[in-house]
Amino acid sequence: AESVSQLDDQVTVTEGDPLTVKCTYSFSGTPYLFWYVQYPNQGLQFLLKYIAGDNLVKGSFGFMAEFNKSQMSFHLKKPSALGSDSAVYFCAGRDTVVGLLGELNTNPQVQ
Ligand SMILES: *[C@@H]1O[C@H](CO)[C@@H](O)[C@H](O)[C@H]1NC(C)=O
Repeated sequence: AESVSQLDDQVTVTEGDPLTVKCTYSFSGTPYLFWYVQYPNQGLQFLLKYIAGDNLVKGSFGFMAEFNKSQMSFHLKKPSALGSDSAVYFCAGRDTVVGLLGELNTNPQVQ
């Protein structure tokens, strides 16, 4: 079956540190991959997608994701996390949304 998987239920990073939310897929063919974010008390917002072309995809709010065919991964990354990045992030493949990928807690108190 085609699916995407979350590797971590929750990720905690310090504000200013790099943020990675992991996603792997198990599609036999070329996958279509999507990242969405849900900020507190808001609806789902589209961040970025991979369909073809460049492996490194840039999206909204300073996020990017790198498609890695040999690793079958599409991890979401941001060089420097903000407190406002605390949200629920969803990875989706083709038209199958598997659900919660990662719940990110940043700690704006640190430093
Ligand atoms: C995929 O990931 C592997 C292991 O991290 C890395 O060696 C390789 O360069 C990556 N490939 C691409 C296309 O980024």
